[in-house]
Amino acid sequence: MSSRLRIGIIGAGGISGQHFAAYAANADKAELVCVADLNLETAQARAREYNVPDAVCDYKALLARRDIDAVSICTPTKFHPIIAREAFEAGKHVLSEKPAGLETQPVKAAIAAARQAGKVYAIGFMERQFDTFPALRDAMRAAAIGRPVVARDMAYVGMAEFCQWLDADLNGGPFIDGCCHPIDTWSGILESRVTEVYAHGFAASECRFTIPPGRKAAMDTGDAVLRFESGDRGVLTACWALPKLPGAALAPLRAGARYTIVGPKGFLLGGVREDIQMVTEQGESKLVHQDFKKRYSVAHARQVAAFCKAITDGTAPGATGEDGLYALQVTLAILTSMREDRVVRVADM
Ligand SMILES: NC(=O)c1ccc[n+]([C@@H]2O[C@H](COP(=O)([O-])OP(=O)(O)OC[C@H]3O[C@@H](n4cnc5c(N)ncnc54)[C@H](O)[C@@H]3O)[C@@H](O)[C@H]2O)c1
Repeated sequence: MSSRLRIGIIGAGGISGQHFAAYAANADKAELVCVADLNLETAQARAREYNVPDAVCDYKALLARRDIDAVSICTPTKFHPIIAREAFEAGKHVLSEKPAGLETQPVKAAIAAARQAGKVYAIGFMERQFDTFPALRDAMRAAAIGRPVVARDMAYVGMAEFCQWLDADLNGGPFIDGCCHPIDTWSGILESRVTEVYAHGFAASECRFTIPPGRKAAMDTGDAVLRFESGDRGVLTACWALPKLPGAALAPLRAGARYTIVGPKGFLLGGVREDIQMVTEQGESKLVHQDFKKRYSVAHARQVAAFCKAITDGTAPGATGEDGLYALQVTLAILTSMREDRVVRVADM
C-alpha cells in the first residue's frame, strides 16, 4: 500500500461531485486513481475536472485493478450492495452512498463479504457529520425539552416527469431514498432505535404520469409514524410527486417543512441541515448557525476523512453497513405497512 490510499469512484453523476471534492480536500490521505461510469463521457468529464488519471465504463475493470485500495459507490441505489459485495471480494474497502440498498438480502451479503475480507464498509449518512448532529444529541441528553419527544420531518419535491427518484426498483422513492437520512440521524440524536412503524401512502406519480412499460412507481406520498425503543416517536411526511413548480411557488409549502422535535418542556426547530433554534420555559436560544451549502461539502469531506481513518487506524467510519441495513429495515417496514395497512415490526424485515 502506498502512503496515501488509492481510490476509485464508481458512478460519476450528481452526488459523486461531493465525493470527488471530498477526496481532493483529503489529498494528504487519499489520491484518486480511476473513475467508472456506464456513460464513458460522464466518467471522462469527472476525470478531467479532478485530474484523475483513468476513466472507464465498466466498474468491474476498476475493481480488478490491484493499485486501488478503496472505492466510493455513487450509482443508483439498486446497485449499491451488489457492487459493494464485488468490491469486498476484490479486496477493496467501500464507502457506499446511502441508502445501503433496496432489499435486505443483498445488503446482508455485502456485510458478510466485508467481514470475510476484513474490509471497511461505510455508508454515506453524511448528516452525522454536520455540527448540528452532536448539538441536537447534546440537547436531548441535557433533557432541555424533556422526554418523550415527537420528531417530525417533511419532504416536498416537484417532479416534471416519471424518473429514477420515483422508480421503485432503481432508487426506491422517498421513503427509502430520502427518509433513510432522518431515520439514521434521529436514531443517533435520540440514542434509540425504531422498533415498529405504522404508515399509509400511495404512488401519486401514477396519477400524474404514464409509467413506462417495465417500470414500477414507488410509494411517493404518505406519512409514517415511527415508535422508538425509548418511547419517542417520529413522523415522516413525504410527497415527491408534486407538480414541478418554481421555487417561489413551492416556498409556502416548504416553509412548514422544517424538522421539529417537540417535547414536554419545549421544542427544537430546524434540523441537521438547518440552523437550530431551541425554545424552552427558560427562553429561546440558537444552538448552531452555519451556511448550509458550506456545511454540506464540509460534511462530505469529514465523511471521507472518517472513512480513510477507519481504513488506516481501525476507527469507526461514521455509519457502517449494519447501520445502513437498520435504516433500510425501517424503510421497508414503512412500505410494508403502507401496502398491508398494519403496524409492522422492524425486526421482521
Ligand atoms: N448523501 C446524500 O445526501 C445524497 C444526495 C444525492 C444522492 N445520493 C445517493 O447517491 C446515489 C446516486 O445519486 P445521483 O444523484 O448521483 O444519481 P445520478 O443519476 O446523477 O448519478 C448516477 C450515476 O451512476 C451511473 N451508473 C449507473 N449504473 C452504473 C453502473 N452499473 N456502473 C457504473 N456507473 C453507473 C450513471 O450513469 C450516473 O452517471 C443514489 O443512491 C442517491 O440516493 C445521496
